[in-house]
Amino acid sequence: MEKLMITGGRPLQGTVSISGAKNSAIALIPAAILAESEVILDNLPLLSDVAVYSEILEELGATVTWEGSQMKIDPSSIKSIPMPNGPVKKLRASYYMMGAMLGRFKEAIIGLPGGCNFEPRPIDQHIKGFEALGATVTNEHGAIHLHAKELHGTKIYLDVSSVGATINIMLAAARAKGATIIENAAKEPEIIDVATLLNSMGAIIKGAGTETIRIEGVSELHGCRHSIIPDRIQAGTYMIAAAATRGNVLIDNVIPKHMEALTAKMQEMGIGIEEYDESIRVLGAPSYEHVDVKALIYPGFATDLQSPMTSLLTQAQGVSVLSDFVYSNRFKHVPELVRMGAKIRVEGRSAIIEGGRLNAAKVKAADLRAGAALVIAGLTVSEGVTEVTGVEYIDRGYDHLVSNLRLLGADVWRQTE
Ligand code: EPU
Repeated sequence: MEKLMITGGRPLQGTVSISGAKNSAIALIPAAILAESEVILDNLPLLSDVAVYSEILEELGATVTWEGSQMKIDPSSIKSIPMPNGPVKKLRASYYMMGAMLGRFKEAIIGLPGGCNFEPRPIDQHIKGFEALGATVTNEHGAIHLHAKELHGTKIYLDVSSVGATINIMLAAARAKGATIIENAAKEPEIIDVATLLNSMGAIIKGAGTETIRIEGVSELHGCRHSIIPDRIQAGTYMIAAAATRGNVLIDNVIPKHMEALTAKMQEMGIGIEEYDESIRVLGAPSYEHVDVKALIYPGFATDLQSPMTSLLTQAQGVSVLSDFVYSNRFKHVPELVRMGAKIRVEGRSAIIEGGRLNAAKVKAADLRAGAALVIAGLTVSEGVTEVTGVEYIDRGYDHLVSNLRLLGADVWRQTE
């Protein structure tokens, strides 16, 4: 078993460069299935979820070459192979295989996704979309079976602005007959990234990033080259870590516009923020004001930064209230932070956090962002060693976390037991 060992208390100093976005990459890789020729993805993050996706495509017959931050996917030999088990079970985003395979082959058998199960994560809106496009969808022994004679464009109103459902419907509709309109679509930057790739492949998608997306189906898509947007959640995690350790860090290769909800909250706390074209400097201060935070769909405060933010708010004076309106119970980091001495209680969708000192402890990450929260908490504790297990979750979303933190002066290392 691997663990992260942290001796904190050192202000983070220096520059960290952010990799491409995980939540884009794991949609862009399956999107390549829709093309008839090679797709090249640049600025790819080095993550276990990306490795699993490359394995899935290879099992289908694609040729995948991955060197550093570039992946070349030749999907021309891909076959329609059922995938009820195997690597699809390892990650949440394998649900994109449904939209991509349905778009290309008009059929798919995909095992229900695994991944970070911090609470039930239904896919009813994805299925509603596929059915509206003309597919028959059944759940047989834990695998989703999709089949359509042909897919035809239609109007789909999402009951919730789901990132996954919006992307999945775009994937299937890109090769449907006629126009599909998604209303109440999610507006996250990763959706624009996927639409940009699909358009470079020859799709006709308008309105990505707004609540109405129009997809004019085409019969064939071709290869292209695409550079993935920076990971706003990784960037936010380093911004929070810099502030929590009262450091001074330049976070490079970010799109400051994507970070607005976080930068506004940090400024409200009294943290110094300097914005440049593609970077943000975070300047810690001796004391921070308490704030209330509401995690919402984009452009609101990201739910994926809710857990790391909890750790930062333990460093503020007074009582902060952090509510999550995307997921109702994404608080698996809280009992672990309490183990470290944090004064936090959960009431309904909210964590009520009273600022105070934390202690080193042995803690367990139950999901990816909970893991980031525990690492940040450990970085604030100068006495003793904080041990974080559940490293496999952290590796799903943080490219070079340990080496990046060490470059910023943190005393962090991996230990295998
Ligand atoms: N929802 C439904 N039905 C659906 C789909 C979603 O009720 O069919 C609900 C969910 O239960 C949730 C809300 O809608 O309450 C939003 O879920 P969404 O579908 O937007 O989430 P997702 O696509 O499953 C992606 C990211 C998550 C991130 C959320 C919200 C990927 C693979 N995952 O999940 O990222 O938290 O959007 O921004 O892109 C992470 O990176 O740690 C992570 C969990």
